[in-house]
Amino acid sequence: MSRIGVLVSGRGSNLQALLDAQAAGTLGGEVVVVISNHAGVPALERAAKAGVPTVVLERDAFESRKAQHLAICEALVSHNVDIVVLAGFDRILHPEVVRRFQQRILNVHPSLLPAFAGGLHAQADALDYGVKVAGCTVHFVTEEVDAGPIVLQAPVPVLDDDTVESLSARILEEEHRILPEAVRLLAEGRLRIEGRRVRVLPDPLRAD
Ligand code: GAR
Repeated sequence: MSRIGVLVSGRGSNLQALLDAQAAGTLGGEVVVVISNHAGVPALERAAKAGVPTVVLERDAFESRKAQHLAICEALVSHNVDIVVLAGFDRILHPEVVRRFQQRILNVHPSLLPAFAGGLHAQADALDYGVKVAGCTVHFVTEEVDAGPIVLQAPVPVLDDDTVESLSARILEEEHRILPEAVRLLAEGRLRIEGRRVRVLPDPLRAD
């Protein structure tokens, strides 16, 4: 069973989707630690409610961003984490952490990458740009922001009367579907990275 560490910063609805999948037996792994870079956020309450240990490592407690991120890395290592999930983590992970967990970190981003990469307002950017199809992406984390190999994507049509809130809510529903699915595929060893492309290997338990 893969040991999963989740990095959060706020609301934690994607964390909740992972915890719900775990409870339903469809995550293929166990969330063993939730690490937040902000104290007092709802994501920490969700973890506590599910009985998952939490760690808070705020920027103010460290002399540099690098020191903070290395502490995050140590917490992941000390919990024997195999897979790291960035679930609404609002900072760019330091390259040393990315290298330590190479090909084992997944991020969920609320756009169809490579569109609207790099920011924290992808849904507003999609509306401002006037795209007709928005969506979300789960990808491997590499040292280049939002540019790692793509595991799963889901399209979400933009409606004429959409606001940032209404579009974000429909994108979020898809995030909650594809993030646990991508984690399960990685936990089951069914993702093969070939250059920029990620091949999903068939489920060995399904005879078809
Ligand atoms: C989600 O929409 C996630 O895709 C986004 O932040 C939200 C976190 O919600 N992440 C990014 O924009 C990363 N660039 P949550 O805390 O309820 O999971």
